[in-house]
Amino acid sequence: MGAVDELKPIFSPKSIAVVGASRSPMKIGYEILQNILVQGYQGKIFPINPEATEILGLRSLPSVMAVKDDIDLAIIAVPAEFVPKVMTECARKKVKGAIIISSGFAETGEKGRLLEDEVLQIAKKGGIRVIGPNTLGYKDPIDNLDAAFVFGMPKPGEIALISQSGALCVGMIYYANGEHIGLSRVISVGNKADVDDADLIEYLDQDKATKVIAMYIEGIKDGKKFLDAARKCRKPIVAIKAGRTPAGSAAASTHTGSLSGSDAVYDSAFRQVHIQRAYEVGELFDFARALAYQPPAQGNRVGIISNGGGAGIMIADWCESIGLKVPNLNKKTIEALRPNLPSITIARNPVDVTGDARFHRYYATGSAMLADANVDALIMACVHAGIARPREYVGAVIKLVEDKRAVNKPIVACWVGGPEINEVVQELRVKNIPVYPSAMRAARAVRCLYDEGRRLELLGRKKQNSVGGH
Ligand code: ACO
Repeated sequence: MGAVDELKPIFSPKSIAVVGASRSPMKIGYEILQNILVQGYQGKIFPINPEATEILGLRSLPSVMAVKDDIDLAIIAVPAEFVPKVMTECARKKVKGAIIISSGFAETGEKGRLLEDEVLQIAKKGGIRVIGPNTLGYKDPIDNLDAAFVFGMPKPGEIALISQSGALCVGMIYYANGEHIGLSRVISVGNKADVDDADLIEYLDQDKATKVIAMYIEGIKDGKKFLDAARKCRKPIVAIKAGRTPAGSAAASTHTGSLSGSDAVYDSAFRQVHIQRAYEVGELFDFARALAYQPPAQGNRVGIISNGGGAGIMIADWCESIGLKVPNLNKKTIEALRPNLPSITIARNPVDVTGDARFHRYYATGSAMLADANVDALIMACVHAGIARPREYVGAVIKLVEDKRAVNKPIVACWVGGPEINEVVQELRVKNIPVYPSAMRAARAVRCLYDEGRRLELLGRKKQNSVGGH
């Protein structure tokens, strides 16, 4: 059985036992049970606690052995020293999967590492796949299952998030919610004693709800397995690899017991398997949103439209400095642009539609540039100059994205200004149109779409070669 079948009972369980379900609302075992109930889980739920008879209105049982039904998933939130006993009972009960929330394992040193090994051996012998230990659990906003502690669900969407850090995972959920970025599955992996990034990549690659896989990684134990999974994955992967410096690496070892390894090795390995590397949370989601909601760029030539000359120049600088090109427009495009531009404007890329541009000027300029065979992607910028009309700019970007889907060229938006324009461009975020508050972020998002185009082209060629070879 592969990871996909093995992980099904964990991510689509028909029944869940919460071992260490607590009577105290202050404890993690209470919160997990509550979260499962709040989301309206439709399967069977069994609170397990030897001291209790009822928790949150459900009959509590002393051990998984006392449950008459089959158990797909056990979520374990008892102190670390009791986990081997609980796992032994789970193995006897033939529980299929476990999430071990408890901390106190490899991240604490040698004693904890031995305890983690002991738990892993029990799991292996019993055929139980394990997420964790030292994990938050997972949150599934598509199937409404909150199998984690910490209250609150992400907005549903098409980006899966895998995080080795629990707290950061929650922070990233809130960040995504604030940016109107929807998530498909959010999985906190903790120490990755058993289920690791490779298993999850394989699982999410076949997940219909997921278009892009975003990851926060501190360390990878089995490099070959990881690279194989990433290479085979048909979906784009974006990843932060933290612990890049001696200080970060030392912090990662006490956080999740990770060996960070050489950053240069990670960097080149990521390149080899076309994982797009991000360096902070904002960038992870900048890339993920662009990849999820815009087509990849078929080439590296970027058309730039701005209502402020300076913004256009900065975008051009950023494009060229990261391997993109700002091409000359063809004659036909220049002719199409002229009647829509003020007489003071020269019709050349970047196109300055000037500060007073209204809907029609943005739209007509965008349409002409998208039709140009020299242009593979479009960045549309709005500077909140006094005479600017951000609302009309937003309307033009939305209409272009909606009207020009068949053109199959990515469009990203960029703005410069204060809270007023931020509020207006929110409409773009709500519609999942990538929009960035800086020239650098917009250009880097386009570069990411260009790299994705190349990845798909290579994949296509490999496929053709293998078909041709047979
Ligand atoms: N089976 C079932 N229930 C049990 C068992 C058992 N063998 N043993 C104890 N219990 C019950 C207890 O009676 C208690 O219930 P009660 O409150 O009704 O009396 C409940 O389980 C919890 O046990 P406690 O001993 O009270 O443990 P506590 O809740 O304080 O802590 C926990 C347990 C949360 C697992 C803790 O040890 C821990 O590891 N906390 C950290 C968790 C964490 O942060 N995880 C990782 C985050 S992600 C990251 O950053 C990488």
